[in-house]
Amino acid sequence: MQITSFEQYEADYKKSVENPEQFWGEVAQNFQWRKPWYKVLSWDFTGPNIKWFEGAKLNITENCLDRHLATNGDKPAIIWEPNDPEQDSVTLTYKMLHERVCRFANVLKRNGAKKGDRICIYMPMVPELAIAVLACARIGAVHSVVFGGFSAKSIADRINDAACKLVITADGAYRGNKQIPLKDVIDDALIGCPTVEKCIVLTHVRTPVSMLKGRDVWWEDEVKHVNDVCEAEEMDAEDLLFILYTSGSTGKPKGVVHTCGGYMVYAGYTFSNVFNYQPGEVYFCTADIGWITGHSYIVYGPLSQGATSLIFEGIPTFPTPSRFWDVVEKHKVNTLYTAPTAIRSLMSFGDEPLNGKDLSSIRVLGSVGEPINEEAWHWFDEKIGKGKAPIVDTWWQTETGGIMISPIATVTPTKPSFATLPLPGIQPILVDENGNEIEGNGVSGNLCIKFPWPGMLRTTYGDHERCKQTYFSTYENLYFTGDGCLRDEDGYYRITGRVDDVLNVSGHRIGTAEVENAINMHAGVIESAVVGYPHDVKGQGIYAFVIFPEMHGDVELTKKDILQTVTRVIGAIAKPDKVLFVSGLPKTRSGKIMRRILRKIAEGETSNLGDISTLLDPNVVQEIIESAAKA
Ligand code: WT7
Repeated sequence: MQITSFEQYEADYKKSVENPEQFWGEVAQNFQWRKPWYKVLSWDFTGPNIKWFEGAKLNITENCLDRHLATNGDKPAIIWEPNDPEQDSVTLTYKMLHERVCRFANVLKRNGAKKGDRICIYMPMVPELAIAVLACARIGAVHSVVFGGFSAKSIADRINDAACKLVITADGAYRGNKQIPLKDVIDDALIGCPTVEKCIVLTHVRTPVSMLKGRDVWWEDEVKHVNDVCEAEEMDAEDLLFILYTSGSTGKPKGVVHTCGGYMVYAGYTFSNVFNYQPGEVYFCTADIGWITGHSYIVYGPLSQGATSLIFEGIPTFPTPSRFWDVVEKHKVNTLYTAPTAIRSLMSFGDEPLNGKDLSSIRVLGSVGEPINEEAWHWFDEKIGKGKAPIVDTWWQTETGGIMISPIATVTPTKPSFATLPLPGIQPILVDENGNEIEGNGVSGNLCIKFPWPGMLRTTYGDHERCKQTYFSTYENLYFTGDGCLRDEDGYYRITGRVDDVLNVSGHRIGTAEVENAINMHAGVIESAVVGYPHDVKGQGIYAFVIFPEMHGDVELTKKDILQTVTRVIGAIAKPDKVLFVSGLPKTRSGKIMRRILRKIAEGETSNLGDISTLLDPNVVQEIIESAAKA
């Protein structure tokens, strides 16, 4: 299943397009099934209705755990590096992980969970997070992991959308020199979550927490009441595996749904190939398991391939900006998969943090989450890879389940800032505004995918129509990614960024409408408009234009009130970098905010704002330009 030459890539690609069912049927043979499929694929993009490996039965945890026991049971599955470098790291072999997953799966059952129930997980980056995820999959419960940076309200919205029955959390989390009171946040969230019956709390930071009788139980107590034998639930290939919420250009975040069979095949296949993973190597993905990158490339992809996956609790700059390099040296990391924002942030500290660090174990480097600028690419290549480690710039999305366009390490010739070529099975096309295909090379357009792949989303939880509208209705018979893209003379793809109202801030996906709604919840705000602007480290910063007519006292304090409101409503990750108070917003006569103009102003442009004659009140533009210049 592993591609080892460019010729083989080309041959596999050709086969995957000409005979997709045969191609994926063969790939799927590399996994363990309880019962085979009777049909590899049936699909239409209008429903959409997508089914992979129909009729097949499996449990993904048998692929991630049980099947490695006989040959690799004593091999490390997870290495955990804590936030505090003074604290010992932890290694869990496949045997140990299997045992703990089974034990915790029994805890879930003991607390009333069964196949099909939704379980919300809000935890720090500790091995128990991976254990919780896998334990859900073991019993056929659907996990919905919520990133530890989201607010109580965001959690409550997600819990209620999926009608979760259980919550798994910890007392708190460490993040650099900060402590985050996870259980407090969950307590606030659960005030408005009638479906939640039980909350399982892991002791981690051991900060005082309230434990509600009948609802809250300690992880450590519960595991004493059960044994470590838990037969995996037999799942249909198209049964739900998980829900993961992600932001779009409108409304509340959507619950992207992934199913058991196709997701497993796609995460495993892409992991093995893109990183050219070799047995015994240590693989380190710096993402949080709360995002899709962590689901697919910390947990399911690596474990399905019997790999050693390093879980890091901390942040790149704590206690010093050498931390990543210390972790690489300490654990002899072979593959480092991280985000451009982390690279740019570490770059800004210069070479000093690298002095004396042994990075010679590094063989493959990866980038994900946002376009990587050439400067960051070269720094990563020269300073970290020493010019010898291929960089895989992996483009994909929560909705795609796994990597879509990317070099294959040691196989695909790379080019700075290019995601290069589609993986086998992926058929990208560029279209113009009207949905006409833009053929040939040296062209740009909106990136769509014209044929299904096993890891694609199946629906948005509880609202199939929304899935159809968001991804399959912009252009007929195509999956629309929301990204703009260039295809150069060599046929290489470069993702240029979102073409919709979605921001990418430090690799986190944030909808402008969501931030606006949060700002508008502040009592003094009449209206607001949010746009992105180029930011040296974060990729994009958040710029908020706010109408706030009756301000009492201090402008700076009022700005902070607005940031606090956004933190409360969404979470600190969505806090605007700049807030500008204005008396009006540039609107068309039909009342639509012209973001194009605001984007230019946010970028520092004062002339060349394009046609503003259709504005209801063109004067407002001059006023905004002037106050932006003064701010
Ligand atoms: C959006 C998806 C699944 C990866 C983590 C983010 C942007 C992602 C790249 C890349 C340029 C990229 C796109 C995409 N993006 N990877 N290598 N080059 N842009 O997942 O939160 O679902 O966001 O991230 O804009 O649409 P996500």
